[in-house]
Amino acid sequence: MTLTDNTLRLAVCDYPEHVPRDRWAEYARMQKDLGLTYVRVAEFAWSRLEPAEGHYTFDWLDEAVETLHAAGLKVVMCTPTATPPAWLTRAHPEILPYDREGRVREFGSRRHYDFASPVYRERSRRITRAVAVRYGDHPAVVGWQTDNEFACHSTGRSYGGASAAAFPGWLRRRYGTLDALNEAWGNVFWSMDYTDWNQIRPPILTVTETNPSHVLDYFRFASDMIREFQEEQVAILREHSPGRWVTHNFMIFESEFDHYDVSETLDFVSWDNYPTGMLEYFGKWVGEDVKLRYARTGHPDLISFNHDLYRGLKRVRARHDVEAEDAPPAPQPQRGGFWVMEQQCGQVNWAPYNPLPADGAVSLWTAQAWAHGADCVSYFRWRAATMSQEVMHSGLLRHDETPDRGFEEVRRMEREGLTLGAVPARVALVHDYESLWILDEQKQGGPAYWAQTFTYYTALRALGIDVDVVHPDADLGGYALVVAPALTMIPEARVAKLRADAGGRLMVFGPRAAFRTPSGRAHENGQFGDDKDFFGGRSLNFESLRPGLTVRAGGHAVTQWAEGYEPAPGTRTLITYEGGPLAGQAAVMRRGNVVTVGAHSPELLHALLADLAREAGVDVTPLPEGVRLSRRSGHTVVANWNADPVEFEGLTLPGVSWRLV
Ligand code: GAL
Repeated sequence: MTLTDNTLRLAVCDYPEHVPRDRWAEYARMQKDLGLTYVRVAEFAWSRLEPAEGHYTFDWLDEAVETLHAAGLKVVMCTPTATPPAWLTRAHPEILPYDREGRVREFGSRRHYDFASPVYRERSRRITRAVAVRYGDHPAVVGWQTDNEFACHSTGRSYGGASAAAFPGWLRRRYGTLDALNEAWGNVFWSMDYTDWNQIRPPILTVTETNPSHVLDYFRFASDMIREFQEEQVAILREHSPGRWVTHNFMIFESEFDHYDVSETLDFVSWDNYPTGMLEYFGKWVGEDVKLRYARTGHPDLISFNHDLYRGLKRVRARHDVEAEDAPPAPQPQRGGFWVMEQQCGQVNWAPYNPLPADGAVSLWTAQAWAHGADCVSYFRWRAATMSQEVMHSGLLRHDETPDRGFEEVRRMEREGLTLGAVPARVALVHDYESLWILDEQKQGGPAYWAQTFTYYTALRALGIDVDVVHPDADLGGYALVVAPALTMIPEARVAKLRADAGGRLMVFGPRAAFRTPSGRAHENGQFGDDKDFFGGRSLNFESLRPGLTVRAGGHAVTQWAEGYEPAPGTRTLITYEGGPLAGQAAVMRRGNVVTVGAHSPELLHALLADLAREAGVDVTPLPEGVRLSRRSGHTVVANWNADPVEFEGLTLPGVSWRLV
């Protein structure tokens, strides 16, 4: 393909404040020469932009921006609110967050603020306005990133201070009366009834398990605080930086807030992709053998799940397509483009083990990002830091400023000219943060929400199927097959919509579906509530299984979680439990287009989803281990994530490589 304006763009995160000024021009020249389009700056620079209250020192950033501009690079400017400076923290210690042990989280790293703090909110608006006024109409500045990685280091929820003070008021607005709250939470249980709003505290430090309904509302509250915090910044950026886009860099499998809500006012979303760190740190459920196999590349499906999630998070016009130098952006058709704002390009420093990526991995990650819908991949970071917490982390340049291992792979990517366009998924996987919160609060020995979701996702990917990850309220009209692995909370209005959706396509629900009411209780009439006719029957029993304790269903081993159903008249039992306490109960049942799966079993799922996809008319290509297909813009990336070469459909793919066909 040829390089046009409509091709994948590359970028880098850089920190001019970390190096002497005399390096800036040379770095900009090298960045341009490498083929980069954008440079992201200033997301942690608050102490150098406002060293004392109200005293702004923009001169250095002015010069840095001018230097990039002169080199022909575009700038992604950030609000620096992830790092409140010492002077602010000491003058206003009430901005600090609290951990789950009720302790203050101190100054000395980053993200030490409480989203609910009125004082911090005011300071965040003030510095955002100052930076926006200064750089909002600079010709080099094409877009903004708010803050940095909301909730990183478990900072999405503060359990004391400002959040504790704001929570009762939030509840009062939600429930109106204490009677309503006590009923919704089931506070008759263990005499937990409240008689005054101010008796209610964050759900920590209780003697034993905290009421899950209390926890659920605390998580909703915390998510709302993040949304409000960002909306304030976005409004200021829109006012002072017309015609520029605004994004935020979300994280791998981040759970602490509802990303659909928080992305609503953004132009498009970004996320930060650290494949080797993700495998060690987030991939708890993949097993030691798998971790070893993919230690130098990361697991393809862990990575692409996040691409597919963030691609579906924000289906809005992609304003970064239309960055004409002076013209305000024109409305664009919906396309769902996203950015990888930070892409690992060497070893990281924060996982338990941090191996060097395999040769070819940086190129493979970049091609995969493109194939799953990314419009820009921005590497983290330009030069390895020579100071402080991240001296063990790599960059495109080593500490000594020589090009590191990823550098030439980036140069080659720049020449690929990968055309932007649609990802043609015909299968949707439904994802919902409220279900995540309540499921994980009482998961027992069953798979956690992400693990259960991932089991379905990876089964589909191993069958060569492209997947859109979507919100439960998304328009499902274009899909042939819809898979909802862990929708444990399905409010009535949503079931009504799903009933309509099921008229035109196959739908699969995983274990614990529709088990909860919106406040986190069980239904008075048992699992599936009033919708047993939709899901196919009623649930009789469920159990969580310790490692080594398995039951069987349809000849497959069921691990971790098994629930059994009694099908309603007119419902077919597809698979029955064999032996054990659930013997004879349905493990999988089907009523019309709806299939409900009660057994957690990767093998069973692989076979079931292959059959259902074929029935739905979706192309199924069972793939060898470590081989993946991803389609975009009329092309297919065939990728080999194995260290060794593979033969696949007449192609010979070297280890850790990809081919466009
Ligand atoms: C990200 C973060 C960056 C940097 C990076 C190191 O989570 O946004 O600032 O710390 O990790 O891998």
